[in-house]
Amino acid sequence: MVLAGAGLSAASGVPTFREAQSGLWARFRPEDLATPEAFRRDPQTVWRWYQWRRELVAGVEPNAAHTALARWQSRADLTIVTQNVDGLQQRAGGRVIEFHGNIFRDLCMAENRLLAPDEQVPGVPPRCRRCGAHVRPGVVWFGEAIDERDLREATHAAQRCAVFISVGTSSLVFPAAALAGSAVQHGATLIEINPHETPLSPTADYRFEAPAEQVLPALVARVASVQT
Ligand code: OAD
Repeated sequence: MVLAGAGLSAASGVPTFREAQSGLWARFRPEDLATPEAFRRDPQTVWRWYQWRRELVAGVEPNAAHTALARWQSRADLTIVTQNVDGLQQRAGGRVIEFHGNIFRDLCMAENRLLAPDEQVPGVPPRCRRCGAHVRPGVVWFGEAIDERDLREATHAAQRCAVFISVGTSSLVFPAAALAGSAVQHGATLIEINPHETPLSPTADYRFEAPAEQVLPALVARVASVQT
């Protein structure tokens, strides 16, 4: 099982969350924008921030780390759980549990249902054509619950995996950060791939202190050579 975080997409040019934000958004902290309270208080600012991130992500490509995972999954029983909302792993191929949602989805704030473009009245943010509530991005905000099915599937995978790889995540945001502990409790070997230490590092059986886009292609090639 692989649990991925923002570091997996860093080589594609998507800034990680706890990196300084650039340009216009430098004075905001994601923790102050990615909450239901922030959206209720200032829907325009939060919507514009997500539009900016959508445009950024739409303009980049999956990198060698995403491709390596997709290749691995095509020939092994590999569950990929990503905290990333950028959809890059899916574009590289493969099945992914999107633990924190997807930035390209639109939801009705009141009804919590997916909205197609023709179900929205344009605006900043748009409004739901049926009930008039604001449209919000289909991501999990701080303080919100993970989709029940995603949580169940990810927990089940953690409990039955032989190897748990935590890649490109600061291991600070729960419940995602708890999956590794659950895997270890059930006997899994823990591998961390991250150029920097995280709270998970001391418990890892193996640590690769290097970027995901270097480690994963090499690791996947090595596994393939051992298997054949
Ligand atoms: P963070 O920004 O917290 O952490 C990114 C991690 O990636 C850091 O530990 C970096 O050291 C590491 N990193 C940077 N470049 C890397 C590379 N090329 N290869 C490997 N690792 C690299 O991002 P997440 O842990 O994903 O939640 O953050 C978790 C959640 O917090 C996000 O999903 C988001 C955020 O706020 C929500 O939106 C709910």
